[in-house]
Amino acid sequence: MLVSAKEMLQKAKKGKYAVGQFNINNLEWTKAILQTAQELNSPVILGVSEGAGKYMCGYTTIVGMVNGMINELGITVPVALHLDHGSYEHAKKCIEAGFSSVMFDGSHYPIEENIEKTKELVALCDKLGLSIEAEVGSIGGEEDGVIGAGEVADPKECKMIADLGVTMLAAGIGNIHGKYPENWAGLSFDTLDAIQQLTGDMPLVLHGGTGIPADMIKKAISLGVSKINVNTECQLAFADATRKYIEAGKDLQGKGFDPRKLLADGVQAIKDTVKEKMELFGSVNKA
Ligand code: 13P
Repeated sequence: MLVSAKEMLQKAKKGKYAVGQFNINNLEWTKAILQTAQELNSPVILGVSEGAGKYMCGYTTIVGMVNGMINELGITVPVALHLDHGSYEHAKKCIEAGFSSVMFDGSHYPIEENIEKTKELVALCDKLGLSIEAEVGSIGGEEDGVIGAGEVADPKECKMIADLGVTMLAAGIGNIHGKYPENWAGLSFDTLDAIQQLTGDMPLVLHGGTGIPADMIKKAISLGVSKINVNTECQLAFADATRKYIEAGKDLQGKGFDPRKLLADGVQAIKDTVKEKMELFGSVNKA
C-alpha cells in the first residue's frame, strides 16, 4: 500500500538521514527502485514528473502499475508515489488518480500567489492524509523542458510557505537539475542554515541530487535536508550500461535481442545507483 511521505520524512529529519526520491520512467525503472528499497529495508519515494506521467500513459496507469508491483513483489517498506514539480492542475489530477504525495511548484509565481495556491492544496491533502511539497526559489537547470534560473531562496519566504502546513519544503540553494557545470559554485550552506533556523522541524528537500559530491550531501543532511531527489544519475547509468551491452554485440548473440535481456544490464545499473545513494543518504534499514 502506498503511504504519505510525512512519517518517513519526519523520522528522517529526527534521525539525521535523508530519504531518496528516485524518478521513474517506465516499468523497469519502477521495479528496479522498489526491489532495491526492499533489499536494503529503506523507505523510498517514487517521483513522477508531468512529462514522465504523460509518457507512461497518465497518472491512473502509474498508480495501477505501482500498486500492482507492491503486491506482486511483496514490497513491505514504506513507498510514497509523488508528483514531481507539479502545476496546480496536475497536483489535483494526481490526487484524484491515487498518488499518495504531490509537489506543487509555485516557485515561478509571485510569493503571494505561491502562498494562495499552496494553501488550497494543503487543505485538500490534509483532508485526504496525503503529503505535499512546496517550493521557494526555483531550482536551476532543465527538467522536462522547464528551465529554472538556479535561484537562492529567501529564508523569510521559506518560513512563510512552511507555516502553511506543507509536509516538506524545497528551497533553491544553488542546486540545479541535470549535470553540474565545471564552474558550479557548490551549494549555499549559509542559505540552507538560515532556512533551517527559521523553519525548525520542517523536512527540507534537496533537488538536483545528481553529481553533488558526497561530502556536500552529508553536510546538507546535517543542516536539515531529509529528502534528496535523484533522476539524471539513474538515466546516465542505464544508458551507459545499455550502450556497453550493444557495443559488445550481445544483442546479436542468441536471444540477446529479447528486451528482458537487452535491458537487464541497464536495470542492474539503476539498482546499483539507487543502492549507492541510499547508503550515502543513510536510509538503509530505516524502513
Ligand atoms: P537530477 O536529475 O539532477 O538528479 O534532479 C532530480 C530532481 O531534482 C527531480 O526533481
